[in-house]
Amino acid sequence: MQRIRGALRFFVPFRHFVESCLGRRLPLPSFAVSPPRMPAFAAKGDEDFQSAYRGRSAEIFFANDGPVIYKWPHYFAVYDQLLGPLVGTEVRMLEIGVCKGGSLKLWREFFGPRAVIFGIDIDRRCAAFDGQFASVRIGSQDDSDFLRKVVAEMGGLDVVLDDGSHVASHQRASFNALFPLLSEGGLYIIEDMHTAYWAEYEGGLRKQGTAVEFLKEKIDEMHRHYRNPELNRPESMPEIESVQFFDSIAVVRKRKQLPRFHMPRPSPQ
Ligand SMILES: C[S@@+](CC[C@H](N)C(=O)[O-])C[C@H]1O[C@@H](n2cnc3c(N)ncnc32)[C@H](O)[C@@H]1O
Repeated sequence: MQRIRGALRFFVPFRHFVESCLGRRLPLPSFAVSPPRMPAFAAKGDEDFQSAYRGRSAEIFFANDGPVIYKWPHYFAVYDQLLGPLVGTEVRMLEIGVCKGGSLKLWREFFGPRAVIFGIDIDRRCAAFDGQFASVRIGSQDDSDFLRKVVAEMGGLDVVLDDGSHVASHQRASFNALFPLLSEGGLYIIEDMHTAYWAEYEGGLRKQGTAVEFLKEKIDEMHRHYRNPELNRPESMPEIESVQFFDSIAVVRKRKQLPRFHMPRPSPQ
């Protein structure tokens, strides 16, 4: 203890000295920041609590007395907004992360019987849920061959929901493998994006490669023809219609884009 105090007595003024030379604050070491963890946000969700959350997915979640579903209730409004238009359709959805199987039940109730729903998980025990509410395949989300095989079996892909390991390199690997396979207008959803700020998921504020930083790069990619007008041609346009950030959920919608033009109307004579 004595030694730690001694080291701090030297370290703190030295740090202040360096900061005053640089004219900016230095980042704190990760052990000193001590970010919150999941348990800090735990809630039981009694009836008063539930009344704040309305809509289709919230109703299914709060009525669930089957296998456990792990969701943050502020996601429900986002799910309803993004996925509501697909209710009753033959949407092909892949959820990364099956866990206790509850979320596959949620999606079956949400979309209805026509939807093609697949879940993948690295945990072999999840194979027990195959065929209950959806199809389940076992493999890792960073295995691109495995992902491609699953999508081939699904007959295509309209929605991906990444609720898997939340490890940044895994999130990037899944996105890179699956986004090209998404159908026109398809949605790529990554949830629990707050893990991008937590060190145990390869996270950290503004740390390169986290899902937050990776998707910020997608914003740059979406605008690349403004940096290089040579790319403003049909065959070079990025197939990204939008990159949307909610609290802890990010969504990239895939759609072919037309070259961009800026013009007056009426046209000058
Ligand atoms: C947060 S849980 C999923 C919760 C579930 N989607 C729900 O809403 O109830 C995360 C799951 O991801 C799985 N997982 C962890 N690493 C994985 C990987 N590399 N590939 C696929 N699944 C992984 C874990 O086994 C765990 O079941």
